[in-house]
Amino acid sequence: MAKEVKNVEYGLEKIFEGAQDFLPLLGTDYVEFYVGNAKQSAHFYKTAFGFQSFAYAGLETGLKDRVSYVLKQGKIRLVLTTALKSDSPIGEHVKKHGDGVKVIALWVEDARKSFEETVKRGAKPYMEPTIEKDEHGEVVRAGIYTYGETVHMFVERKNYKGDFLPGFKEWKSDYNPTPVGLKFIDHMVGNVGWNQMNTWVKWYEDVMGFVNFLSFDDKQIHTEYSALMSKVMSNGNGRIKFPINEPAEGKKRSQIEEYLDFYEDAGVQHLAVATDDIIKSVSELKARGVEFLPPPPQAYYDEIPARLGVHRDMMKEDIKELQKLSILVDADEEGYLLQIFTKPVEDRPTLFFEIIQRMGAKGFGAGNFKALFESIEREQALRGTL
Ligand code: FE2
Repeated sequence: MAKEVKNVEYGLEKIFEGAQDFLPLLGTDYVEFYVGNAKQSAHFYKTAFGFQSFAYAGLETGLKDRVSYVLKQGKIRLVLTTALKSDSPIGEHVKKHGDGVKVIALWVEDARKSFEETVKRGAKPYMEPTIEKDEHGEVVRAGIYTYGETVHMFVERKNYKGDFLPGFKEWKSDYNPTPVGLKFIDHMVGNVGWNQMNTWVKWYEDVMGFVNFLSFDDKQIHTEYSALMSKVMSNGNGRIKFPINEPAEGKKRSQIEEYLDFYEDAGVQHLAVATDDIIKSVSELKARGVEFLPPPPQAYYDEIPARLGVHRDMMKEDIKELQKLSILVDADEEGYLLQIFTKPVEDRPTLFFEIIQRMGAKGFGAGNFKALFESIEREQALRGTL
């Protein structure tokens, strides 16, 4: 395992000792969901989450087998893709997994080199380097498989001046709900099967040159009933963070097992999106019908000043207001963070979103895990899946 480095400073290049920069990643390029009905999903993400109409590809642009809607908010680009015919790998994906994340696309300087280097290190190819062109220039994309049927696509766009990708046209709509203040993707979490976490930790180290900079075992992440383990992987410059979870033995079924049962594979569990005003963003999301996990008990909020410790005076937010919105608070040596989790965004209890505001803290809300998982277990109990 690569050496863990404490006191990381995100945004600085090569912050992690042991990170190999054969694969410099500039950031998340887009996240593509395969869904059963992209038109309706796009409406949901616009209306409920404040994403903006951005680009479109489908029958009108010459595609025969699929339709994709691209939505944007801050730096976040979501692509919602659906199959037009039954004989389609997209349809097969949706049949098996339900709606879910197919592609985590990573913005790179050189897609061919990213593909060659990762395949040489053991990645399973998904798409050979492919050049796509239009009047705005060219984009090179190449893809490799990660856990389950999930894919990392490398996107090289240094010779491209268009808004998204060749083949897409601008999507203009008369219906434009306002954004809710979501800025960028903070991290994306993968759920993998029993005893698979370390396999994928090693894969991210060996194939992608990532480092494992935080680990939580089942002694830290457990409730009375269930447990899980998690390791956080980061690329060299800290811009891409992928925690990886696996289930652990408990008295009852953990949320990770529930996910694996319903996604029928390893896959993306949640997308954490950053805001710099969580009270405003969450108030707006709730008003638009986004469902969040119910709040933890009163005792949780009573303990917040103690949990904040030395950062207590730094906190500007009113605890009563946070409680009213069921926002959670955690602190580490460097500051505090505010976070909240949606209920699953589809009928299968699989993918959900986290809204996060970091006030110096670099962690993932470990102090909230117990309260959070107890909330999830109450939901699981209602579904009969605990
Ligand atoms: Fe998270």
